This record gives sequence, C-alpha cells and structure tokens, in this order.
Amino acid sequence: MIYFDNAATSCPKPSEVITAVNGFIRLANGNPGRGGHALAMRAAEEVYLCRKKVSGLFGAGEPERVCFTSGATAALNYAILGLIGRYDHVICSDIEHNSVRRPLLQTGAEISYFNAFADEKTILEEIDSKIKHNTKAVVCTYASNVFPLVLPISDIGALCRKRGVAFIVDGAQTAGVYSTDIRESGIDVLCVPAHKGLYGITGCGAMIVSPDFDHKKIKPIMSGGSGVASFDPGMPDELPERFEAGTLPTVAVAALGAGVDFVLSKGPSEILCHEQRIQRRVYENLKDNEKIRFYRYAPGTLLLFNLEGKTCEEAARLLNGYGVCVRAGFHCAPDAHKKTATDKTGAVRASFSVFNTVKQADRFSDILDHISRL
Ligand code: ALA
Repeated sequence: MIYFDNAATSCPKPSEVITAVNGFIRLANGNPGRGGHALAMRAAEEVYLCRKKVSGLFGAGEPERVCFTSGATAALNYAILGLIGRYDHVICSDIEHNSVRRPLLQTGAEISYFNAFADEKTILEEIDSKIKHNTKAVVCTYASNVFPLVLPISDIGALCRKRGVAFIVDGAQTAGVYSTDIRESGIDVLCVPAHKGLYGITGCGAMIVSPDFDHKKIKPIMSGGSGVASFDPGMPDELPERFEAGTLPTVAVAALGAGVDFVLSKGPSEILCHEQRIQRRVYENLKDNEKIRFYRYAPGTLLLFNLEGKTCEEAARLLNGYGVCVRAGFHCAPDAHKKTATDKTGAVRASFSVFNTVKQADRFSDILDHISRL
C-alpha cells in the first residue's frame, strides 16, 4: 500500500506511539485530576509530561498553557467562539478550512478576507489596511490543506502585535512539520491536532495559549467537571482547567506525548525536507504529462491535481485499485477550491509524511501516469 493521505491523518504511526497507547491502557488508565489513587496519579503524570513536551515544542513557556481538546477543530471553536463576538470585526484568509470558516460565521462578526495568493508584502499591507477600531483578531491557517501554500505567519504575527489585534492560527497541517515558536511568531493562540504531523492518534488536539496573551479574554464555551473548584458555578479561571471540561482523551494524550518525542528525534526541519523531497519527486516525474493538471505547485507537503477526462473520484478509485490512498473531492475548504476553480469538480490530493519513500513516489508516479492514459 502507498499511503498518501497524511493531510487527513498520518499513517502509519510510529511504533513508539503504539507502545504508548498500549502502555497507558495497561498501566495508567485512571482519570487524571479526578482522584488520588495510584492509577489516577499515573494518568495525571502522563498528561503533565505530554503538556510539557507540547509546550516545549511550540515555545509556550509553561505546560499549563497547553489545553487539550478533542482535536484542532475543537481548539479552533474554543478560541474563535470564546474570543469573538457579534459586534467584532475579524480578518481571515480566503482559503480557510471549515474549522475556521464555520466558527467565524457562527460568531456573527463582520469578516474581511485577505488574498492568500498575494505575495507576502501585499498580504501584510492588505491585513494592515483592513484593521479597524473593532477588529478583534486575525484568524488564519498556517498552511492550506488543499494545495501547497504556506502563509507568512511570523510577519502577520508581528503586524498583529503592532496593531494590538489577537492572532489565532490553525496549525492543522503544520504542527510537527514547520518549526513554530508561538512567542517568536507573535501567535496568541495556536490550534493543533495530535493525529497528523505529530503522529498521535485521533481524538486529541490542543489549544496553546501564548504566555503573552491574557487567556481570560477567551470565554470557556464548554462547561463541566474540571477536577477543581467543584462548588463554583462557572469554569475556573486557571489554565488548563478553564478549557478542559470533562474527562480528557487520556490515551490519545499519551500517544501525542510519544508522537512529539518521535518528531523531536527526527527534527521538524528534517521532516519538512523529507516531505518536500517526496512532493518534488512526484511533481518532477509527472509535470510534463499533459493529462495531469497540478494546481498551484510550490514546495510543500502535498499536491493537488486532476486528470483530464476523469472525475477526481474516479481517479482516486482507480488509484485505490492499485493500493494507493489519496483523498478526492472537496477538502472541507470551499473558498480554497473557489480560488483554484475546482469548486465544481473537486480535485485529488496526495499528501506526504516522514514514512513515505522515494520508491513510493516513483511507483505512485508510474501508476498515475498509467491511469491518466486510460
Ligand atoms: N482536514 C483534514 C483534511 O484536509 C481532514 O483531509
């Protein structure tokens, strides 16, 4: 099998992650913060260790600033719905995933869009010119999940700092791949999934709040048991409890801890180089095939394409017949499809991980070349 659907979820998982899942269930499967017995304490220790690793990876300073959620989508909902109200104004890019787009629409706030296809200078000028008295935040993805495009996050962060506007970043496609220090990048809230580039399992993500940002500005949109201050009517002010209502996905948190160790053992920049090597190899192999249309090729961790005379679903089905896993259709980012005129047709996406090899890239290219001529 050739698994090229790592932007959806990475596969395979490192053996360390599988061992951590197994070890947690066997040896530490209590409920952290909900009891003082040995298993609850062991679970709490594991969760704390993972917080520390994640905060270290993203430069969050204190482990408490890492709030575990059920995924990046939940983290983005927490940040967006907790911070932005209907009388606010927000700025986002015109290629956002529905995990940003829908919560933003749900706030009822006025939304201005910047052109993600513009050059960096123009993007900054456009954001700068759109900021007004009630602009609460800039919210955008770090990298598109549809085509290879990375936004100038640190420059946008610096601009937000200068203009006193909060900056919320969707790190779904970049966590573990693009080195990110949230304080250096001026990010106030970074939302990440555990199961993609951090090589954990599904059911877990994190909302990471910068030490430079007053987390109390974010209202908790979920309430429930927090393990502390049980008699208070509302959620506690403190991090991470403020945003961790209910039992944590502890097994997935333990997996995330092992995934972060795995990423650090390779180094995110090495991982990025490797994925770009695979991506470039496939593109170079196929770019002269006139039956394949690539959309917006640039160095990155994924490719978007269509085959002449075939629907994207048909292409993916034919690839699947050769044991190749890719995603076809619309990738939950309607605006990104509009930008590439694939909003009527959808498109096929191949996305890479550290486990993919040049041999797989060549085999995939041969298969796709063959299919394109059927
Ligand atoms: N957001 C994920 C993707 O792009 C699921 O496939």
